[in-house]
Amino acid sequence: MSDFEPKIIAFCCQYCAYSAADMAGSMRLQYPTNVEIVLIPCTGRFDMLFALKAFEGGADGVYVAGCLEGTCHFLDGNIRAKKRVNYLRNELKNMGVEEERLRMYNLSASQGPRFMEIAYEFTDLIKQLGPSPFKKKDAA
Ligand code: FES
Repeated sequence: MSDFEPKIIAFCCQYCAYSAADMAGSMRLQYPTNVEIVLIPCTGRFDMLFALKAFEGGADGVYVAGCLEGTCHFLDGNIRAKKRVNYLRNELKNMGVEEERLRMYNLSASQGPRFMEIAYEFTDLIKQLGPSPFKKKDAA
């Protein structure tokens, strides 16, 4: 499975996570090309259907990245997103899909290096898990 290159979708809020990604780029920090960023105004806008659609579209892993708790520009958007992510992780588990395929991260706009670390950390995790079971079901 060493040649497996996962497809990862990262839903990033525009204020912190996306700015951190931007900073990583400005600092010329490389992060895995497996990660495809989808810009959302706030993680509070994250809908569970976004993740399910991403899995359906071939993603092996999905993460939501927002502002640090207490610093969401829309007050509690990241707290609401955390609840949705946790709910969906539980549903994935009930479906027999590894819940680790969905995660939430919080970071500040100045954490370009942390953005890079998260991208590596999550990509490595998904590489260990292998292709998404949704893909396997499609192929059957
Ligand atoms: Fe970043 Fe709400 S504005 S999580």
